[in-house]
Amino acid sequence: MTPAPEVFIKNLNKRITINPAFSLLNNFLMQQIPIQTLCGGKAQCGRCRIKIIEGGEFLTPMRDPEKKRLGEELIKQNWRLSCQNHTLRNLVIEIPALDEDLALP
Ligand code: FES
Repeated sequence: MTPAPEVFIKNLNKRITINPAFSLLNNFLMQQIPIQTLCGGKAQCGRCRIKIIEGGEFLTPMRDPEKKRLGEELIKQNWRLSCQNHTLRNLVIEIPALDEDLALP
């Protein structure tokens, strides 16, 4: 049996084990990792975004709602919506602070 994937949150210096049955956002919320969300995981608010440092190739392939919400510029900068992604492999990421203004147009 393969070990459960881990996410290392670089800017919080924290490593957590992920249950791949749930989105990354739900994993964060279940483990009290501070992360913004307004829409509750519907790819609408864009506030659950995370910056991928390593392992982006193991994430869920990007679907239209995520593409639309993020836009080309954020995608180029390696941002993904944690509510739209699951992982089976280890990742290194950064999560914006709770008080950062993440509003998107
Ligand atoms: S929680 Fe709103 S876009 Fe992910």
